Amino acid sequence: MGSKTGNEMWGGRFADGPDAIMEAINVSIDFDQRLAIQDIAGSRAHAQMLSDCAVISRDDASEILRGLDLVEQEIVNGTFVFRRDLEDIHMNIEARLRDLIGTPAGRLHTGRSRNDQVATDFKLHIRERLMQFDQGLAELQRALVNQASQNADTVMPGFTHLQSAQPVTFGHHCLAYVEMFARDRGRFCDAHTRAGQSPLGSAALAGTSFPINREQTAKALGFTEPTRNSLDAVADRDFVLEALSGASICAVHLSRLAEEIVIWTSAQFNFVKLPDKFSTGSSIMPQKRNPDAAELVRAKSGRIIGGLTSLLVMLKGLPMAYSKDMQEDKEPAFDALDALDLAIAAMTGMIRDLTVNKQAMRDSASKGFATATDLADWLVRALNMPFRDAHHVTGSLVAAAERKGCDLDGLTLDEMQAEEPRITADVFDVLGLDNSVKSRTSFGGTSPDNVRAQVKYWQEQLA
Ligand code: ARG
Repeated sequence: MGSKTGNEMWGGRFADGPDAIMEAINVSIDFDQRLAIQDIAGSRAHAQMLSDCAVISRDDASEILRGLDLVEQEIVNGTFVFRRDLEDIHMNIEARLRDLIGTPAGRLHTGRSRNDQVATDFKLHIRERLMQFDQGLAELQRALVNQASQNADTVMPGFTHLQSAQPVTFGHHCLAYVEMFARDRGRFCDAHTRAGQSPLGSAALAGTSFPINREQTAKALGFTEPTRNSLDAVADRDFVLEALSGASICAVHLSRLAEEIVIWTSAQFNFVKLPDKFSTGSSIMPQKRNPDAAELVRAKSGRIIGGLTSLLVMLKGLPMAYSKDMQEDKEPAFDALDALDLAIAAMTGMIRDLTVNKQAMRDSASKGFATATDLADWLVRALNMPFRDAHHVTGSLVAAAERKGCDLDGLTLDEMQAEEPRITADVFDVLGLDNSVKSRTSFGGTSPDNVRAQVKYWQEQLA
């Protein structure tokens, strides 16, 4: 069955086979063979239903089911020969089924088309991936919560503009990412629910005249119900777009955390140390310990967002219903979703075993006048000063400390009173880092007690 004789699947009308270039641009088996298991599952459900609805005989159906088992065996064992002249996974499987069982194989394609087949296969694949991300992110959250519980009172500088802003706890910082990944999981679960309608039985675009039972195939494949419009069913790729949108947002979250790890592991910060198994050395500079995994997680966001962009652009002008353009949905989606899967796993590995340098975090937090807001708040509380005035006085105290080359608690009471005579020695209570974080008890704030309560909340959620 070479290209000279034409395709055995539509041979009737064609005198000539495809040009080599036509085959090259048309063929998808190189990548859609990844949908083999879903394709067989779809065919099983379809054959069973056709026989239950008396569209094909029981005998033919059991031959088809027996044959599909054999095909599946070959695919699982790696002995299946994927043929490029058969274009895609659907025709490869059907042709092999015909080799194995003969005529009954030809009845399988009754009341369906490759258009509803590919939509069904890909939706099944995407649904699996969405659940896999949900699980993977739960593991990552567990690792972060664990770090948070060990660092509920580990003081570090909190940054805005990457400038020291106010002291926070490392536990609080870890839990910020737990929140982000919770929203990502929510997006993946929502997408899974919305991808719950089965396209199978929509046939090429208009439905079929055979008395099929789409409820039955939907249930057999784990969908909640069949799609309600056959045109939409074969034209819809929202489920891929949603998976890729969720993946892109998640990749951006991972990339931000990865960037923090790159910064934190630098000699200049030295806040954390990655485990050996997630670091690399340099072939020329013996002192180096590079956060390659974090850098690659940061970089993977590019191809993930790229996948989303490819698909949006590919779909944007397509009229109803199916167009062959849609075959181009798979490679970017597989690539992006594989990249996300790996990025989640690598991040989980890094977070699980990273060591926190509490002293370096504390030393850094005590520089940069990070308790200036605490001082201003004290002026408001103790001296009943309007906050704007307190802000101004604090600014002049920071300038005085800068001139003296010390932090705020390095100023003497006299030096403080030179700026504001009503200041008393009590002010020193709020200039310490621990007092500062302890005082941030508003709901959602960084105080160690709050962090412990949130750790408990998440441990229950993730149990
Ligand atoms: N390989 C095709 C795809 O990925 C399957 C559907 C082909 N349908 C068609 N009418 N040519 O989209």
